[in-house]
Amino acid sequence: MLKDKKITLYVTGSIAIYKSLILARLLIKNGNEVKVVMTEDAQKFISPLTFQALTKNEVLTDVFVENDPKSISHIKTADDTDVAIIAPATANIIAKMANGIADDMASTTLLATQAPKFVIPSMNTHMLDNPATVRNLRQLSDDGITIMETANGLLAEGYTGKGRFPEPEEILNWLDSFFEAPLAGKNIVVTAGGTKERIDPVRYISNDSSGKMGIAIARAARNAGANVTLVVGSVSVKLPSGVKILKIESSTELLEETQKAFSSADALIMSAAVADFRPKRVVDHKIKKTADNDNLSIELVKNPDILKTLGSNKQDNQVMIGFAAETNDLIENAVKKIKNKNLDLIVANDVSDKRIGFNSNDNQVTYIFKDGKQVKSELASKDIIAKQIVDIMSQLLN
Ligand code: CTP
Repeated sequence: MLKDKKITLYVTGSIAIYKSLILARLLIKNGNEVKVVMTEDAQKFISPLTFQALTKNEVLTDVFVENDPKSISHIKTADDTDVAIIAPATANIIAKMANGIADDMASTTLLATQAPKFVIPSMNTHMLDNPATVRNLRQLSDDGITIMETANGLLAEGYTGKGRFPEPEEILNWLDSFFEAPLAGKNIVVTAGGTKERIDPVRYISNDSSGKMGIAIARAARNAGANVTLVVGSVSVKLPSGVKILKIESSTELLEETQKAFSSADALIMSAAVADFRPKRVVDHKIKKTADNDNLSIELVKNPDILKTLGSNKQDNQVMIGFAAETNDLIENAVKKIKNKNLDLIVANDVSDKRIGFNSNDNQVTYIFKDGKQVKSELASKDIIAKQIVDIMSQLLN
């Protein structure tokens, strides 16, 4: 539950702004301290005084108004925030956040804050579907910002569609779900990203992993109160804050670091895309093409199977979760892997489907348990799938 936190609520110019008054009240009722930052457009709908009276805090609207000469208000607010909520978030503030634009109090403070950010969009269906907004929301997600799905319903324009700002109670429930602490005191190791197997100093063998799924899992486990160690290879998205990060390059390094971290951990979620083979010999200089080498063969040797190695020594109270990335015979292959690697759960996904494969923002998986039980998930964002995996892990641990 989201309680006893210092929340900065960023309110922008959407007609749904009236619901933010209720959201502010509900957050305060749960023991949070709420400070509001408003854009100029937001103030055309509602006076800052209304939020001030509700929150009993000064409402920030202008970056150049400094009431306290001893501090800089936007930096102080940014630093003094446990959780940043942007609600309602217009297409404009989303575009600014995605591009690092800081041209008013809200966007400048948001750029300066390191607190976890939760965006609740509100806009017309067509604005939401515009490729620029789609791109900006994807960028926010890649930057580790959590975005709530808009509701489908009657819009202020008089027709029905998505883009509707959810009801304040729904927003509160959604926010609460990120602040449950079922994993408080637990040590969780998550691996993410792809490995690189060196051929020579400038070349390597790797794979298409973006690390999005593993990083979303690390964030979800952190939000659930765990001490998270993220062992991470090559990724294309921002690494999360509030977790211990161990960077690796090759599968051999991944094995070493994961083995060390798992020896004192309660659970391991292995989402890294591990190279199964590496060059037998790493050439210490850049391989040159010469007149006599029209063909080049690189002999590969098998890498150790990390999960199998750890699974064969795991303690009864330790939980191990693996992934099965398959292009064919998904369930059959995944079932073989859960047994072979001695796992408690395997998350099977079809990487031949471009909507859910490597580098996508969404995923659809089948959870396969040790006892053979299978549960298929909906097609959902990697954040939602990550939360489901962390929920299942909590149940397995408890
Ligand atoms: N994995 C591992 N060590 C390896 C290869 C994979 O620990 N050397 C882990 C992956 O992180 C994943 C699970 O094992 O959690 C399954 O990986 P996947 O690539 O689907 O299967 P493989 O074990 O490589 O088997 P195959 O090549 O037959 O698909």
